Amino acid sequence: MSAEARLRHIVATGLDEGLSPPLLLMRLIIAAEHETDVEAALTADPRAGAPLRLWRERPGAWDVVRGVLDHADHAATAEAGDPVRRWAETFDRVASVSPEAAVALYSLGDAALLEAAGGEIVGWLDSRGLLDPATTVIDLGCGMGRVARLLAPRVDAVLGLDVSRRLLRHARAVAQDAPNLLFALHAGRDLACVRDGAADLVLAVDVMPYLVSAGLAAAHVADAFRALRPGGALVVMNWSYRGDPDLDLQEAEAAAAAAGFTRGACVRPFSLWDGRVFHWARPR
Ligand SMILES: C[S@@+](CC[C@H](N)C(=O)[O-])C[C@H]1O[C@@H](n2cnc3c(N)ncnc32)[C@H](O)[C@@H]1O
Repeated sequence: MSAEARLRHIVATGLDEGLSPPLLLMRLIIAAEHETDVEAALTADPRAGAPLRLWRERPGAWDVVRGVLDHADHAATAEAGDPVRRWAETFDRVASVSPEAAVALYSLGDAALLEAAGGEIVGWLDSRGLLDPATTVIDLGCGMGRVARLLAPRVDAVLGLDVSRRLLRHARAVAQDAPNLLFALHAGRDLACVRDGAADLVLAVDVMPYLVSAGLAAAHVADAFRALRPGGALVVMNWSYRGDPDLDLQEAEAAAAAAGFTRGACVRPFSLWDGRVFHWARPR
């Protein structure tokens, strides 16, 4: 298949799947060789009006997505060294391109898109009855705190943990007006800084893929069980980026069962983002 046909295929299948315009643009930018190829592939499909409009409204999207990928590709292919440190350094560098794109590439670096996607995440947690004025949340791999900030008015307390100093600086800057929001630099190996049974909800939005790649996923699931009170919930949004949903489900369910969680749900509830949500509870 020619490069041009491949891009047109990405547009057609994305539209068939009902992919959101930002996600479709993200996929196209990742696959294209040149910026002009994105516009060409979109104008070739009469159904691509919405993503084409978004592309024209966001002239910086190409540089942001490609800038992030340059750093992330390097980290993913580097074999040597401690993987936790490698990801921490990578996210520090990527945050200097765009903190918004560092935490969600499909935001294309746009704060309003990121906010809307965060609103969907919080809305889903609310719909599952997981947010309550008495709830204590651990936001593992909180990045720039975009979800923690939206959760803070709905719950008792949020502790955001992350390995990236630069993303935490962004998080702290937006958290100044929220006294129940705390961010801490995290060693990235477990949840040892959280007391047994101290949390009602452990939330991991798009961080488990880095723990999977570092061989730390099952250990974190087990430690989340310890950190949760009986009846508390572990919500993982995306298990890995390996592109093998069956393997992810099998691995995630095995880790949850081994830790003691009850059999949970696995859904894709969002319209802006294709995140796959795993939801388990610690038995009462
Ligand atoms: C794709 S971002 C998602 C950030 C945030 N959850 C969000 O959705 O906005 C992944 C985050 O995981 C963090 N991270 C990577 N490895 C980690 C580890 N071992 N422990 C904690 N955080 C980690 C990165 O620094 C980064 O902030």
